[in-house]
Amino acid sequence: EKGGFEYFMDKEIQEQPDAIANTLRGHFDGTSILLDEQRLGDDELRTIDKVVVVACGSAYHSGLVAKYAIEHWTRLPVEVELASEFRYRDPVLTRDTLVVAVSQSGETADTLEAVRHAREQKARVLAVCNTNGSQIPRESDAVLYTHAGPEIGVASTKAFMAQVVANYLVGLALAQARGVKYSDEVARDFADLSAMPAAVAETLTRMDPVRALGQELVDAKAVLFLGRHVGFPVALEGALKLKELAYMHAEGFAAGELKHGPIALIEEGLPVVVVTPSPKLRPLLHSKLLSNIREIQARGARTIVICEDGDDIVAPFADTLISLPSVPVLMQPLVATVPLQILAAEIARARGFDVDKPRNLAKSVTVE
Ligand code: F6R
Repeated sequence: EKGGFEYFMDKEIQEQPDAIANTLRGHFDGTSILLDEQRLGDDELRTIDKVVVVACGSAYHSGLVAKYAIEHWTRLPVEVELASEFRYRDPVLTRDTLVVAVSQSGETADTLEAVRHAREQKARVLAVCNTNGSQIPRESDAVLYTHAGPEIGVASTKAFMAQVVANYLVGLALAQARGVKYSDEVARDFADLSAMPAAVAETLTRMDPVRALGQELVDAKAVLFLGRHVGFPVALEGALKLKELAYMHAEGFAAGELKHGPIALIEEGLPVVVVTPSPKLRPLLHSKLLSNIREIQARGARTIVICEDGDDIVAPFADTLISLPSVPVLMQPLVATVPLQILAAEIARARGFDVDKPRNLAKSVTVE
């Protein structure tokens, strides 16, 4: 069942190129993005004036990633809310709000309650879900299924990737329905997405140094993760994986926040993982991040730099350099998450923990 792997999670990480390809399949006909089992017509999509993503844990991080893409593509405001906070806050919802409820299991109690609250307020609810016929899609107006296949490991990996991709499809469908993007632009974005299974597969072939790093970090007291733009939610996801699998203190920060507090945490030898943007596509962001890396290195941090192939600018400041295939800016999370998953799994394994069944956690959280 584990196909020769020690853990289901190892297998599921390797299945990520397929999870992406299968989630994309059938959703573009050469002209338009097609959302499956769509009970939201183009007319309804056209009137949407705000998007609210509600979810928990890694699914929430998939929403944070997608916010960058959906706002950029649609010019609609996108809010991303933890489902457990959403309905206690009296959120502003109207008939023209699209609530996207993201859930692998489709049974997460907080997300389900958020769906119920949104529907009472007459918002349109679209479920992004990996489990056919589960409760969240049943109670939503429409559903877009992720096709990651069953995920057995408690920590989300391939389902997270598929959630990012599905959320992106929602963004493209909205942009097209609103007339902000024409078919040729949508075709280009869809082509970018379609190139990602190969980029993730290529990334997976380069992970031996990450495994070696995991062995080295087995006794670290804490690990920090920094990113900017889409690298910020990737940092949050990397920290969550490390907490839940290796039971290690881990925090993700927006790199720009360093000097507003977190830099006080930096001490000699502290491992800091930095998700670096492309120097070619995002030169300004890249130079900002570079100065963050210099600041923490000057204070003794051990810098672990995830960057694009051929980034010679950042290389001298990396104690460990993990270079990944060059991809469009909004696609970077799909490659940059992979080393963070493998790092967490490897540290957990080296510490002797069951990677598939972390303590105190359940695959589907059906209590609030
Ligand atoms: C983390 C993880 C959890 C889930 C969260 C939501 O690795 O797996 O944080 O992402 O419990 O679960 P679903 O997507 O089933 O609603």
